[in-house]
Amino acid sequence: MRFDVLTLFPESLNNFLNESIIGRAREKGLITINTLNIRDFSKDKHRRVDDYPYGGGAGMVMAPQPIYDAWRSIIDQCPKKPRTLYMSPQGRVLDQQTAHRLRAEEHLIILCGHYEGVDERILEEIVDEEISIGDYVLTGGELPAMVLIDCVSRLGEGGLSSEDSYSNESHYNGLLEYPQYTRPPEFMGRKVPEILSSGHHANIEKWRYLQMLERTKSKRPDMYASYEADNKDKVLEAYGLKPKRRRRKSGKAPDSGEKVGNEHVNKEGTVGLPDVSSDT
Ligand SMILES: C[S@@+](CC[C@H](N)C(=O)[O-])C[C@H]1O[C@@H](n2cnc3c(N)ncnc32)[C@H](O)[C@@H]1O
Repeated sequence: MRFDVLTLFPESLNNFLNESIIGRAREKGLITINTLNIRDFSKDKHRRVDDYPYGGGAGMVMAPQPIYDAWRSIIDQCPKKPRTLYMSPQGRVLDQQTAHRLRAEEHLIILCGHYEGVDERILEEIVDEEISIGDYVLTGGELPAMVLIDCVSRLGEGGLSSEDSYSNESHYNGLLEYPQYTRPPEFMGRKVPEILSSGHHANIEKWRYLQMLERTKSKRPDMYASYEADNKDKVLEAYGLKPKRRRRKSGKAPDSGEKVGNEHVNKEGTVGLPDVSSDT
């Protein structure tokens, strides 16, 4: 997968992108990341890339010409037009689903803004999608671009993490990951749960799934509610509470408003969960 990043501060990205797993993946050719300095494309004799905002107001705005020419220099070499993203606090907030969708692209161009942002006409002309990394404002798009590249390049075939590793992780299936432990078996009086040393893989899997349910319910009730709504039977089964289906009296299918075998489902429609610290 290839990323081209349009930025005023390529060095701030290069330091990060040459380190760690991302750096090794670049060396091995698993991902290609190019940074283009927008300033190199300025036609101004002082290499200026920003100007005062029309209508007045605080700060400076990145001018369209250097950005357009930097973008064009990539596009002109590509047989297929890559998707262009603008890192922006006004964009859709990055989540795991969006990361998977973007991983399907062979090539992404990422525009990083600075100052008060970029001239609106450049967004209209070249940008396919605006992506935010959260509802707060940073000084520039470089950190958000690094977050996006890191998150997207871990995924998929040829990604930096195996599917085994990321498919159990938080957010992959709408749940948070189970707790992880390593040696020593006891630390500050806290023991690793016995089941994890039992060697019984099916029970370990079951315990981990229950932990995922429990911690999502307590840390992210919003996520839990939507997971449970989509996976009601699976959740009941995990707690050994398989719902009893009502017999149909008239051969008619129950309508969607009818509750089905819900003796274990409380008024709010969430499942009453037993203690999962025991080996269920
Ligand atoms: C100071 S911000 C500009 C904010 C802009 N004036 C506004 O109110 O929408 C400068 C640049 O940082 C980047 N940026 C800031 N916060 C971001 C966020 N939460 N997600 C992604 N990019 C962000 C964008 O590239 C933006 O152009």
